[in-house]
Amino acid sequence: MSAFHREQVLSVQHWTDTLFSFTATRDPGFRFLNGQFAMIGLEIDGRPLLRAYSMASANHEPSLEFFSIKVADGALTSRLQTIKQGDIILVGRKATGTLIADNLLPGKRLLLLSTGTGLAPFASLIKDPEVYEAYETIVLVHGCRQVSELAYGERLLQRLTGDEFLGPLLQQKLVYYPTVTREPFRNRGRITDLISTDRLFDDIGLPALDLETDRVMMCGSPRMLEDSRDLLEARGFQEGNHSEAGHFVIEKAFVER
Ligand code: A2P
Repeated sequence: MSAFHREQVLSVQHWTDTLFSFTATRDPGFRFLNGQFAMIGLEIDGRPLLRAYSMASANHEPSLEFFSIKVADGALTSRLQTIKQGDIILVGRKATGTLIADNLLPGKRLLLLSTGTGLAPFASLIKDPEVYEAYETIVLVHGCRQVSELAYGERLLQRLTGDEFLGPLLQQKLVYYPTVTREPFRNRGRITDLISTDRLFDDIGLPALDLETDRVMMCGSPRMLEDSRDLLEARGFQEGNHSEAGHFVIEKAFVER
């Protein structure tokens, strides 16, 4: 078990039948960059059962936070959804991931595109003061099927907007754009359509997508990631990685079960 830290669950919040979030203690030796993920999970019959989870907490916070789906027959999430305060979870010692500022070329506007629990790495990044230093504007888009699935993000944004230190940065630079695809809501439609038709930019009153100024991070539904990549590449955007910075980055490590 030495590849893992054993952490204690501090709180669990259920948002919908399919979504929950939880916080846990953080070993002081566990370091990560905001936007990264680690392998986390449970010890089942003496063996670790782990999946990739982005940290939703920022690296300056003393505890860890995760945002997860619940799948009734999902090997890990069917069990993880029953955790309670005081339970032990396993957290891999090594954090990694592509959604980090250094993988992007310098830009003026940062688009954070997420669906479902793909919001998690951006929950971490929008708490990072360096992100606000690096960009003039940050647009956080969160797409879900139903309005109820937006609750975690809406609550987070409310909390951060009221934060003594981060609040003014959010108010000055962050635009939050939740969108729903399968029931009525003030913003409707898939992220890909909202970008290709310019509706997102019209709605927020900012200029359309621009290779010169925009940098993009994406996390969420694999179909959304594929289609968004196609859309961006058709406009000349190039994918960045650890060896070469680009115009956009995609997180492929994503728990679906
Ligand atoms: P839709 O309801 O039109 O399928 P999921 O729950 O399947 O992971 O989807 C989360 C969100 O991502 C939903 O709003 C869904 O829209 C949207 N989505 C699914 N596939 C794509 C895609 N290929 N491009 C853009 N958005 C997508």
